[in-house]
Amino acid sequence: MARRKRGKSGKVRVAIVGMGIGKANAKALQKNPRAEVAALCDLLPERMEAFAKELNLPGILRFTDYKEMCRDERIDAVFVGTPNQFHVPVALEAVRNGKHVLVTKPLADALAPARKLVKAAEAAKVVNMMSLSTRFGPGCRILGGYLARGEFGEVYYARARSVRRLGIPHWGLGFVRKGGGAWRDMGVHVLDAVWWLMGMPRPVSVLGVAGAKFGPRGEGYLGGRRPPKDYWSEYAADDYAGGFVRFENGAGVQVESFWASHQPEELQIELFGTQAGAKLSPLTIYRTHDYVTSNEAVEVPKETNGFDANTAHWVDCILDGVKCEAPLRHGLLVQEMMEALLDSAERGKEVRL
Ligand SMILES: NC(=O)c1ccc[n+]([C@@H]2O[C@H](COP(=O)([O-])OP(=O)(O)OC[C@H]3O[C@@H](n4cnc5c(N)ncnc54)[C@H](O)[C@@H]3O)[C@@H](O)[C@H]2O)c1
Repeated sequence: MARRKRGKSGKVRVAIVGMGIGKANAKALQKNPRAEVAALCDLLPERMEAFAKELNLPGILRFTDYKEMCRDERIDAVFVGTPNQFHVPVALEAVRNGKHVLVTKPLADALAPARKLVKAAEAAKVVNMMSLSTRFGPGCRILGGYLARGEFGEVYYARARSVRRLGIPHWGLGFVRKGGGAWRDMGVHVLDAVWWLMGMPRPVSVLGVAGAKFGPRGEGYLGGRRPPKDYWSEYAADDYAGGFVRFENGAGVQVESFWASHQPEELQIELFGTQAGAKLSPLTIYRTHDYVTSNEAVEVPKETNGFDANTAHWVDCILDGVKCEAPLRHGLLVQEMMEALLDSAERGKEVRL
């Protein structure tokens, strides 16, 4: 792994790109004694201004041009939190300048740029990691522990879904334009997490349906009211998707994502194992011994969140050379499944990977 020079403090000096989800990640990094938020980058200076105040770092470096930021020697690592369509351009520039990267989900807005980025990041030998707040969330981490101890036996089937009722984002065109959509925004969370919990088997085929039933009509938006027409008339993405992924080991997962629907809200993962089963929300383990069934409710610590664990692992990888648990290559495999589902929906048949 390439080692970059660091500042006198020995801390990883991180630049945060994108003052949306970048803020939660910056706050998580600020809690980490081995990292410091050294720079902010956004097209909108007023967003950086407001966040610099919130962090109580009025003199922090600020950039509106990510290319200039990536050339700056005072930065070791970059968190990429731009809209989907700008993950690859920003992360590519960062790795080409030898910066470690943490890229928010999804890896990209399409498959070709995702492949290009993974190739460049691996060639640059920097720590390249996905930011996955669901996989690194406390519930999934606990479930991962049960799986690692073999308590589920063989996990042969799973269901994963993210369902919103009025949940279409209304504040960024990146969400509703090509490359955005519910599937890449929320489907990615549950697909990545369930695939990881199943032991990351190799996908072999995907069958799916997808479409936009609410967004293009100005319906189903977050906040419970219709945004201006010049926003929703740009709608060019899905607002729901669902399908089935088959894996090389014979296992399968049913996965769904809805930004808007006439259904109750839910973020759920259900695992079917030969020795036990589980569901994520609320975290429950189901077992049967000698025909006696038991349901174990598992307490999930409320004080931790996925961003703390995710950023802490990134810092450990950079400073200690720990093996990265969520490299961009994982994001690429998930992107392959996601794009195959959208492709299957368009072509009306199963897609083989
Ligand atoms: N749980 C999670 O991990 C999580 C949660 C929310 C969003 N996200 C992801 O974060 C990304 C952004 O979503 P958001 O909700 O933060 O959006 P947002 O619109 O609130 O924030 C994006 C910011 O990026 C800035 N930006 C856009 N293009 C830029 C560029 N070229 N250079 C610098 N800054 C640029 C915008 O000005 C804006 O401030 C999406 O890809 C989304 O999937 C992840």
